[in-house]
Amino acid sequence: EIIPWSIEDAEKGGYEHFMLKEIHETPRVIEDTLSEYLDDEITIDASFAFGVSEIVFVACGTSYHACLIGKYFIEKLADISAKVEYASEFIYHQPPTGRTLVISITQSGETADTLEAMRIAKKRGAKVLTITNVLGSTATRIADFVLYTRAGPEISVAATKSFIAQLVVLYLITLKLSHIPRSEKVELLKELRLLPEVVKRILDSKEEIERISKLLAKYENLIYIGREVGGPVALEGALKMKEVSYIHAEGYPAGELKHGPFALLGEKTPVVASLVRDHTYEIMLNNIKEVKARDSIVVVVADEEDKEVEKYADFVIRVPKTNPIFSAVTHSVALQLLAYYTARERGCEIDKPRNLAKSVTVE
Ligand code: G6P
Repeated sequence: EIIPWSIEDAEKGGYEHFMLKEIHETPRVIEDTLSEYLDDEITIDASFAFGVSEIVFVACGTSYHACLIGKYFIEKLADISAKVEYASEFIYHQPPTGRTLVISITQSGETADTLEAMRIAKKRGAKVLTITNVLGSTATRIADFVLYTRAGPEISVAATKSFIAQLVVLYLITLKLSHIPRSEKVELLKELRLLPEVVKRILDSKEEIERISKLLAKYENLIYIGREVGGPVALEGALKMKEVSYIHAEGYPAGELKHGPFALLGEKTPVVASLVRDHTYEIMLNNIKEVKARDSIVVVVADEEDKEVEKYADFVIRVPKTNPIFSAVTHSVALQLLAYYTARERGCEIDKPRNLAKSVTVE
């Protein structure tokens, strides 16, 4: 008997969808991106940062969420003030000065809104650095400086591995510009090099995520919450979920719940929380308790060593313990898998969601 197959099936390498294949490529993508810019030392030429007094990030979609996380890294470890703007809105705002570095993040290097923001930034005298996945893309031709993610081609409309690669470049830029003590830097770089292994462990322990997905697939509304670095992780988790599963999912900084979203809590609205083991831990646990008290099912992404969380969560997705700043990677990979399996459970056309395009080349 001849089993029919297409080139597309062959390219999926045995995975049911490109999205799942691409999530599984993440450990290699992290390794490749690190080897591009990390030897014994970080090899990024940081001349883009000379004389810079502030950074403005611009991007769209998932890349915009990478920017939010980048702002957090840069302000926390490199002590440079940073803003993040949607590329489509940046064009209406105050002019950056000659001392502004605009960093655009774009997987494709072809998103029209991002390209326009870059052109305008240059016109206004700012220096422009782009972080992109595509060699020779339009973004690389507009930018003064280019850094590449080494994610390889991404076919699934929903960005996964390219997002993690963007975070890796942002870690490297931040550590390059950072004045933290050398011993701390060495420690963080050591952990960064371990990330491929850490992500592999998440991929290997996906059963619990699959189990939770079967439950979430029955709902039409989800709320994602997090604090500090967990905030943008929640936004990206919600975006991934709505893109591929068509469930209405919204992300909020956990502190904002009480200013509106509380009204939506209850049996019909599960909450997905990103619980990071840093100074936000206790207050996040409180938020989780508040959510439980209002009858929402709570799914928490947490460190594997965290025993406390079990008392309050209905389900816990365990990820390996890392320095809190790397939870942006570990939690995001877990939430990508959660979105994927939920969409599969709902029978969605995962790789090409309705109405969406991989690269949006109109403004
Ligand atoms: C589209 C894609 C998203 C992507 C966004 C920005 O909307 O569907 O997955 O995040 O564009 O794309 P870029 O290539 O600029 O990162």
